[in-house]
Amino acid sequence: MLTLKGLDKTFQPGTASAHHALCGLDLTLKDGEFVTVIGSNGAGKSTLFGAIAGSFFVDRGHILLDGEDLTYQPEYKRARKVARIFQDPMRGTAPDLTIEENVALAYARAGGRLLAPALPRKKRAFFREQLARLDMGLEDRMKTRIGLLSGGQRQAVTLLMATINAPRVLLLDEHTAALDPVVAERILQITQDIVAENHTTTMMVTHNIGAALSLGTRTIMLEQGKIVLDLSGRTRDALDVPGLLSLYRKTVGAELDTDRMLLTHERAG
Ligand SMILES: Nc1ncnc2c1ncn2[C@@H]1O[C@H](COP(=O)(O)OP(=O)(O)OP(=O)(O)O)[C@@H](O)[C@H]1O
Ligand SMILES: [Mg+2]
Repeated sequence: MLTLKGLDKTFQPGTASAHHALCGLDLTLKDGEFVTVIGSNGAGKSTLFGAIAGSFFVDRGHILLDGEDLTYQPEYKRARKVARIFQDPMRGTAPDLTIEENVALAYARAGGRLLAPALPRKKRAFFREQLARLDMGLEDRMKTRIGLLSGGQRQAVTLLMATINAPRVLLLDEHTAALDPVVAERILQITQDIVAENHTTTMMVTHNIGAALSLGTRTIMLEQGKIVLDLSGRTRDALDVPGLLSLYRKTVGAELDTDRMLLTHERAG
């Protein structure tokens, strides 16, 4: 169980550009729960992920994972438990290293060692299997430099790397937003498979409102550093995209305002 209690964060406090990004945020996620997160630009979604991953310490509040207090644990220690993927496919991997070397690094990092000379044979076979599941022919390109792959292929590898050692929490920050729709859909499917298989507690920020409703079992809306709506069960099942946008309007008193909003979520295949 992941418990966030009263998280508070102000960036550049005491200056003219001070920004109160998290304002007493409370949230509890059950093991294996898959929660989608929506909210306007600047609502605090990425900041929330940064707080959980340990990119910075919160000013107030507590972060507990299965009873362990992570609040002041350094980021590198949390990385074994908390994986985070960003929008930019270039960000999660080292371009000059091969697929295999990247995976070896991810594996070593998740295991807490700084460098592993090579991936253990068993892990390598496992990872080849995982790559094969992507259906992108990458299992036969383990010696290819990551920099030569397309954005979608690279993000797929990033996703596999991030989950190679089954983290307890997976934070997806618009991880398909930079990909073309067909590839994005493929990555979303793979995401669902991996999350279900590993029973990983997952939060996914998306500007794709259709995807926010159709993936996972719960949707939260963040606004000005707070959760303003928390939808699950029948209430969520009964909502379509216009319904969700109208609920947002009623709750926040403004339109959901994002620069990259997508309303539909076409399922491929
Ligand atoms: N390191 C930082 N220093 C100063 N201000 C920051 C920092 N990080 C975030 N902020 C501010 O905190 C607020 C929340 O930012 P955040 O990136 O969490 O928004 P978001 O919900 O992820 O938005 P988007 O949908 O655009 O990605 C914004 O006003 C942002 O400018
Ligand atoms: Mg963001």
